[in-house]
Amino acid sequence: MSGLEKPIPMSSKRVTNLRGHADVPGDKSISHRSLILGALSIGKTKIHGLLEGQDVIDTAKAMSSFGALVEKHKNGEWTVDGFGVGGFAEPQKVIDCGNSGTGVRLIMGAMSTSGISATFTGDASLNERPMARITEPLNLFGAQTFSRRNGKLPITVVGSEAPIPITYHTPVASAQIKSAILFAGLNSPGITTVIEKEKTRDHTERMLQGFGARVLSEKTSEGNIIKLEGYPELKAQEIRVPRDPSSAAFPVCAALITEGSDILVPNIGLNPTRSGLFESLKEMNANVTFENENSQGGEPMADIRAKFSPNMVGIDVPPDRAASMIDEYPILSVVAAFAKGKTMMRDVRELRVKESDRIDAMAKGLKSNGLKIEEGEDWWSVEGREIDGVDGGGLCETFLDHRIAMSFLVLGMASKRTITIDDSSPITTSFPTFESLMSKIGANFQKLEP
Ligand code: S3P
Repeated sequence: MSGLEKPIPMSSKRVTNLRGHADVPGDKSISHRSLILGALSIGKTKIHGLLEGQDVIDTAKAMSSFGALVEKHKNGEWTVDGFGVGGFAEPQKVIDCGNSGTGVRLIMGAMSTSGISATFTGDASLNERPMARITEPLNLFGAQTFSRRNGKLPITVVGSEAPIPITYHTPVASAQIKSAILFAGLNSPGITTVIEKEKTRDHTERMLQGFGARVLSEKTSEGNIIKLEGYPELKAQEIRVPRDPSSAAFPVCAALITEGSDILVPNIGLNPTRSGLFESLKEMNANVTFENENSQGGEPMADIRAKFSPNMVGIDVPPDRAASMIDEYPILSVVAAFAKGKTMMRDVRELRVKESDRIDAMAKGLKSNGLKIEEGEDWWSVEGREIDGVDGGGLCETFLDHRIAMSFLVLGMASKRTITIDDSSPITTSFPTFESLMSKIGANFQKLEP
């Protein structure tokens, strides 16, 4: 998505009785990391179940530009023939990471300690997101970075030829900052240390270990401390990408609010650093259960069953749960609209700097559908109207944000009047099969003329 293509408005009408299996695509975070770590390894990494959303495709293209051989095969498997830690070739063109904050931040980190330069850009949304949180620690490694005056993309990174390992306290809970630093630490001597107050998603640590790096993670009174030993020889792996809990959230939440529904969302990654939404839903009295719990490739997994839940109640979401459900607040606010009482979401300032200002985007759209929202800089609340109580009828702006677009389409599935979004095209960044999958279980979406 560049933000320059033609928008595709879409409507969502009220439906009931969602049924069947919702096979959501591979995990976005793990897909990005599989491609990047495959490129940083020696040998051919095989990836099964890679998410083929635009964000991940942009990362695949970037790794090719740096010299990896990235291929998709007829059986759907992807392979990456890597160049090894520090083996980056200088790209001939600007690296365009599209809509993806994860892609650009992790790749800038990985190349910042190699002796090459690269210039990065993105779409209208990405070029407005904060990047100083990444360039500041990369500068401490010895990399030079040249950005626009506001610290934002496009940014040129001149990699450090003599990197110095760092110890860094992350200023905000962000797996992207942590991962950028750890990837930079791979090509630095000695020990790179990251200290985070709240533990964020730990796919990078788990996967680095799987590829053969020495990484130690320890919970202390200071927070979560991660130590990485530099110059590992990463070895190609075979990866099975679990299905994305952040994508599973949409069919699961749609089933909770639509009368008569009972669906199964199989094989979802349920790493505890990602599963906060499901804990919150259970506290709200949602009928969500895990079946067939197992573990694959070091990640816990389960099938999620979700049934219509007419007696949900509003909750105060514990602030220390924010990191484990940071991408799920928009869809949680949709469920909250159908609960009894207020749902309060605190300590979520980070939502203001995602693909859009998600508090502002959701507040505007929910209000246009008859809901009462209150908000402050780092909190917001939704006054629930109970099941059957949401008017709908609104036209919602999606601000180039896939999760805002999908959240309002789900809202329309249980509202009295049809809801329309101004642009459904960003959905392809993370969930290219969203429309067909949701229609298969019973949604009634329609593309409209812009
Ligand atoms: C991600 C980390 C989170 C999340 C994003 C994916 C990752 O961002 O919002 O969608 O894969 O590391 P922050 O690290 O900025 O919280």
